[in-house]
Amino acid sequence: MNITIADKPFPESGAIAVFSAAKKTLSPSAKALDKITKGALSRALKNANFSGSKGEILELISPGNGKLTRLVLVGVGDPENLTQRTVEEIGGAIAARLQTSGEKQLAVVVDRIKGSPVPEGAFAAHLASGLLIRSYRFDKYRTKEANKKKPSLKTVRILSHQSKQAKVIFAVAKKVISGVFLTRDLTSEPPNVVYPKSFAKIIKSLEADGLKVEILGEAALRKIGMRALLGVGQGSNFESQVVVMRWNGVPKAKMTKPVALIGKGVTFDTGGISIKPAEGMDLMKWDMGGAGIVVGAMKALAKRKAKANVVGIVGLVENMPSGTAQRPGDVVESLSGQTIEILNTDAEGRLVLADVLWYCQQKYKPQVMIDLATLTGAIIVTLGYDQYAGYFTDDDKIAEQLDAAGKITGDLVWRLPLSENYDKLINSQIADMQNIGGKGAGSITAAQFLKRFTNGVPWAHIDVAGVVWSAANKPLWEKGATGYGVRLLDRFVADNYEI
Ligand code: BES
Ligand code: MN
Ligand code: ZN
Repeated sequence: MNITIADKPFPESGAIAVFSAAKKTLSPSAKALDKITKGALSRALKNANFSGSKGEILELISPGNGKLTRLVLVGVGDPENLTQRTVEEIGGAIAARLQTSGEKQLAVVVDRIKGSPVPEGAFAAHLASGLLIRSYRFDKYRTKEANKKKPSLKTVRILSHQSKQAKVIFAVAKKVISGVFLTRDLTSEPPNVVYPKSFAKIIKSLEADGLKVEILGEAALRKIGMRALLGVGQGSNFESQVVVMRWNGVPKAKMTKPVALIGKGVTFDTGGISIKPAEGMDLMKWDMGGAGIVVGAMKALAKRKAKANVVGIVGLVENMPSGTAQRPGDVVESLSGQTIEILNTDAEGRLVLADVLWYCQQKYKPQVMIDLATLTGAIIVTLGYDQYAGYFTDDDKIAEQLDAAGKITGDLVWRLPLSENYDKLINSQIADMQNIGGKGAGSITAAQFLKRFTNGVPWAHIDVAGVVWSAANKPLWEKGATGYGVRLLDRFVADNYEI
């Protein structure tokens, strides 16, 4: 979808969208269009069940003298409640409604909305972002889709007197959204297409955006000593990979320690010998979702030339059962030297992250490490789908930063506890630790496990198992990969770690 922002005047033909606040409070442009159509809009409002709530849409087909193909009235709800995210969701609602409507072009007329904390220019920009984000589709493998179901809407013009401000905001947002789309692509691809080596190759292609990319194959990983990570991949025919991305946006003279972003990239998680049930196992293609977020965020940061030093590291493995697979009962010595008794081969993500976290802090001396992982089913029990990701940290400052970034972007996060008593639950009979806790607190014991590999570096772990994939169409995505987390990390860096 091609989205442009321009000044008024607004057109009097084609498809036009205008706004209404709650209680059918029409915007000036909506009132003007009502006049042009000789009251078609107010007549429709009398008969339709439309109140103007957020994202609500009333469509008039060929009103007035027929020059207009569509008049679309879009609810914004109570203007006082508008935020970046809600405005995006309004844009998303427009895209969802009109994408396959048959209309090829749409003009969206933005006026100042009384009582809105979001200024008109920002409103126009966030609206554009929402339209763009919602227009994403992963349809490369559909060869027989009916024309009626294919997107018709190709161009959208957002019209506002504040187009100058809007253009500046949207130009940056578009770069970040290119990262969101990459994350969605990676997460959506089937596991025979995105496997560790092909994933690494896709990351390598980001050098075109200015990232430095280093790929470590199994020979290198063995030499380094990432035995916990290699153990997870040893049952697979695919070679495990660790990929390091670097974005250096700070001039040499002002050198700062990097921010580190670390992602779990299990390209398919069968559970290994502790195999998962057949039903729904296909979904474990998105067990690389954490790595997908890190890669998308690195792309976003590079595209918008963030003034920060950031290192992104992803551990890419496939967890398969086979004659060479790891067994429940095996003991591995991790890169850190700490030994781990594997009691369940399905608790594999933490083994991957253990070595990557240790490697990261040893090699890159980061000021902060954030890891993202589809780590536990338990986090879905706790927080459900499509709402909050759960995070863990001992550092109140990082917690505040994550909370703030979540509130602004709408990629929400909720803090959960760490403590010594939870930590004890992963002590092992025969090794330094075991890779699972007892019956309860599954997400917390997983986080405690990771903490043992951070070596005291300020760190947060974000369990994204409930938010990277959605079974439902929502204002900002068609069901499937959500792209959650890219904008969270981008904001987290922008607001706290740029010079
Ligand atoms: N990748 C899964 C977690 C997961 C489950 C993500 C469902 C998304 C949806 C992870 O590797 C896993 O299998 N965790 C186990 C841990 C258990 C064996 C301690 C789990 O959550 O069941
Ligand atoms: Mn697993
Ligand atoms: Zn997993």
